[in-house]
Amino acid sequence: MREIAVSGVRPTGKQHLGNYLGAVVNFVRMQEEYDGYFFIADLHSLTTHPRAADLQANVRQTLIEYLACGLDPDKCTLFVQSHVPQISELYLIFNMFAYDGELHKVPTFKDKVRTQPDNVNAGLLTYPVLMAVDILIHHAMKVPVGKDQMQHIEMTRNFGNRFNHTYGVEYFKEPIGFNYGDAPLSVPSLDGEGKMSKSKGENTVIYLMDEPDAIRKKIMKAPSDSGPKEPGQPKTEAVQNLFDLMKLVSKPDVIAHYDQAYHDCAIRYGDMKKQIAEDMTVFLTPIRERIREISADQAYLTRVMEEGGEKARASAQKTVTEVREIIGLKSR
Ligand code: TRP
Repeated sequence: MREIAVSGVRPTGKQHLGNYLGAVVNFVRMQEEYDGYFFIADLHSLTTHPRAADLQANVRQTLIEYLACGLDPDKCTLFVQSHVPQISELYLIFNMFAYDGELHKVPTFKDKVRTQPDNVNAGLLTYPVLMAVDILIHHAMKVPVGKDQMQHIEMTRNFGNRFNHTYGVEYFKEPIGFNYGDAPLSVPSLDGEGKMSKSKGENTVIYLMDEPDAIRKKIMKAPSDSGPKEPGQPKTEAVQNLFDLMKLVSKPDVIAHYDQAYHDCAIRYGDMKKQIAEDMTVFLTPIRERIREISADQAYLTRVMEEGGEKARASAQKTVTEVREIIGLKSR
């Protein structure tokens, strides 16, 4: 039997290159080796009260783009979180194993209190409980997530252990956060600082759907510097970001050429950016075409969601039935 992996992504609409390399690359690889449950976390996104139509469109778009990037419903279970009501039932039960004090201390919660003080709702506070349930309900051992989510995985282990301890069982196992060691996880922002993120503005991210024209315009605007004055001068962050972007999409000999040009103080950043834009276009064109194809095939999308939901519900129901038994809730 293959080990179980679970991960979720919030439905944020059009995915950008950062999402693609952060999550999709891991999922696409894992579906070959694991029994993967990958889902769109629409319940989690309710904390910010999205408009109904937006939520629906974003779930659909996220699903389309994950499929276009190579997630294969024949190799993994791909589903929408809210299509599995068992998750909500187990979430209620797990709220009894999460303490107010520890929830208030979670850095992601404290961040939200700072950034959106007018909407600090209980769902936000118990976000880690829902996430733990996403994971435990399928008895996952591996959870592909970024660094910022590792604390949530630790809480998942704690909640599961507390349940076990309270009822004197060894029912839930301990999942761990997981990433392929060699996976390129963070994609630099086009504004020259830090990683790609929509919160820094539309012009600092490259969407999987972007047309070649948009790709070129955004990359040409990325900052560089006035060029190295002497060989061996370390790269500024903006220039390093350009090289990191190049590494994602260009061939090794092209990268070597620009490295040498930098070293020789002969680099022309305009040429380099043109090259990145060209290679980025080659990289994204097949994905953009797949997105277009899949978007036009509503029957396929419906089938993927129905079949994925059915598989996820079966796995989740088994857990809920066993948990009800353990805690003494009569089954209907
Ligand atoms: N919290 C995750 C994020 O913001 C999304 C998520 C929800 C998730 N449930 C999960 C990730 C379960 C892994 C496992 O990225």
